[in-house]
Amino acid sequence: LKRGLSTSTAMNAVIKNVTVIGGGLMGSGIAQVAAQTGHNVTLVEVNADLVKKAEESISKSLVRVAKKLHKDNSEAATKFVNESQARIKGSTDIPNAVKDSDLVVEAIVENLEMKHKLFKNLDEVAPPKTMFASNTSSLSIGEIASVTKRKDKFGGLHFFNPVPVMKLLEVVRIAETSDETYQAFMAWGKAIGKTCVTCKDTPGFIVNRLLVPYMAEAVRMMERGDASPRDIDTAMKLGAGYPMGPIELSDYVGHDTSLSIVEGWHKKFPDNPLFVPNESVKKLVEQKKLGVKTGEGFYKYNK
Ligand code: 3HC
Repeated sequence: LKRGLSTSTAMNAVIKNVTVIGGGLMGSGIAQVAAQTGHNVTLVEVNADLVKKAEESISKSLVRVAKKLHKDNSEAATKFVNESQARIKGSTDIPNAVKDSDLVVEAIVENLEMKHKLFKNLDEVAPPKTMFASNTSSLSIGEIASVTKRKDKFGGLHFFNPVPVMKLLEVVRIAETSDETYQAFMAWGKAIGKTCVTCKDTPGFIVNRLLVPYMAEAVRMMERGDASPRDIDTAMKLGAGYPMGPIELSDYVGHDTSLSIVEGWHKKFPDNPLFVPNESVKKLVEQKKLGVKTGEGFYKYNK
């Protein structure tokens, strides 16, 4: 119930109006959790179709959350869904979408050039008070921030998939991030129902620095034929208590995402054997078998 009640927290907070750029898996989830905790959200995509797609996936997920929050009260569940949805405005127009924004969270593709282009533009059109955050999984927050003139108002806010379910938020400080910005990020993380951890701007922060090499090692184990994918997954679920095994988790994260992370790190740190891209993952990406989201990865899924 905490998530529903934190609406009142939003009333006294620094961050009330949130703009999320990118309506993919992560952006939609971020927009959703912000809206369901009482924030006014503007969700930006490149065209109206993508805005609609994001809104549809948010409404499906809101129904799942509502069922959990209001198990025996379908009226309250419907109210929760409708009110949360009403707080989200779709947009394709960046200047308009940021004009009252306290915080912009960027969740576009993992491409430094595209992020630079976006943040340069945002820096010009957003009011001086607006804080900026990137949800990047693997790029350097400092490098992304370098094109803006508000590095004191910049940091990383790294969420996990599925955003409405995963309780963690990694809050990343760069050298220039001001105490005010950091405190506002931590308070906002709490207001949206997450537990925050603080990380330095190092590759993969905490979770991905451990999780990505672990998934890659599992794929290498499978490639060597040491064990079957099903047995590797069963082993890590029952032997280490993970909710998903590493092979199914890599399908869930998406092979395009994990490959771009590993390739980026491999380029920067060519001598680290943990960062060598997997051949079978490369092949899956070439075949557009990106995992759960395309219906097939290492395993097949019913769409
Ligand atoms: N929206 C809302 N609710 C959702 C949801 C979504 N998208 N997905 C799952 N849920 C809810 C379900 O409704 C269900 O609720 P209930 O307990 O009231 O029935 C609950 O979550 C559990 O879901 P399921 O019963 O469908 O299935 P599981 O019990 O297997 O849980 C899972 C699914 C939560 C995804 C779980 O398997 C899990 O935690 N997996 C690991 C996920 C993980 O490690 N994520 C991190 C990836 S790394 C990352 O994101 C970083 C990036 O930078 C690469």
